[in-house]
Amino acid sequence: MADTRDTTNASATTGRPAILLDCDPGHDDAIAIVTAARHADLVGITTVAGNAPLERTTYNALVMRDLLAIDVPVHSGSARPLVAEPRAAPFIHGESGLDGADLPAPTTPLDGTDGVEFIIDTCRNSEGIWLVPTGPLTNIAIALRFAPDIADRIAGISLMGGGTFGNRTVTAEFNIWADPEAASIVFGYGGPLVMAGLDVTHQFQATPTRIAQVAALPGQLARVLTDLFNFFASTYLSRHDPGSIQGPAVHDPLAVLALTHPELLDREAHHVAIETMGTLTRGMTVIDQRHLVERRESNCDVLTKVDADTAFDAIVEAIAHFAK
Ligand code: RIB
Ligand code: CA
Repeated sequence: MADTRDTTNASATTGRPAILLDCDPGHDDAIAIVTAARHADLVGITTVAGNAPLERTTYNALVMRDLLAIDVPVHSGSARPLVAEPRAAPFIHGESGLDGADLPAPTTPLDGTDGVEFIIDTCRNSEGIWLVPTGPLTNIAIALRFAPDIADRIAGISLMGGGTFGNRTVTAEFNIWADPEAASIVFGYGGPLVMAGLDVTHQFQATPTRIAQVAALPGQLARVLTDLFNFFASTYLSRHDPGSIQGPAVHDPLAVLALTHPELLDREAHHVAIETMGTLTRGMTVIDQRHLVERRESNCDVLTKVDADTAFDAIVEAIAHFAK
């Protein structure tokens, strides 16, 4: 059933989308936080186990909040997937989840360890919020199961995950692979859904030229993010054939830019389902791109193309806005 809800609705107060960011910082999650804080009404941050254990992803989110000096609640959520065992990604993000920079210890306390309840309460108290998950979908799935009424109150879900190919396995992208059961719940929730998968995020690489744009900015935030980009580049390039990529794919901010800068992204409506049983395909997003009239009705706007230069300019502008 195609949802006809207005998916372009923005926060009534500022005309910008109201976003609740659910993340597993994570180098690219950190950039998504900066992007959302600058270009959207960021109503809250929840954390989930993913790139690193929950304790680390939460610490990293608090570090980013302090570096931006923003007044946004941070609540930690699920420490493990619904069914799968927790499996981090230190080979990309380091043991801390945010290796490569001298991170200032957070000075503002965590607002709560009730991330799922925070998602539910926020969506019940304010209509038209976009949920933007950029890690495993555990928190979002539990919120939808525990409070199905929020499905009709949110503006939609714009997530980073999936694709026609994988990065954690041949067929599965990390966020979906980490918690396929949660992803299946989210992709089946019935409301507006935007998917920033690897097909579009691999078009959005932090090349040396782009990293140099960040390095040219003043202040501690730019220095930290430059170091994080350089670390992210080192691990990413070390895992790819020489010359096959020019920098790390900056995945997560595209789930935010799809809402704040929709003109920078092309999208196609498709039916997307999640494989939860396959030996070789568990965690795969099965995207129906067939030109057959018998195909299933679409449930997702799959992002297919990005204006990478302009999108990265929006990220540099966001960093510059907070640079001091
Ligand atoms: O596959 C990329 C995704 O997995 C990104 O969200 C990255 O932060 C990791 O969580
Ligand atoms: Ca992430």
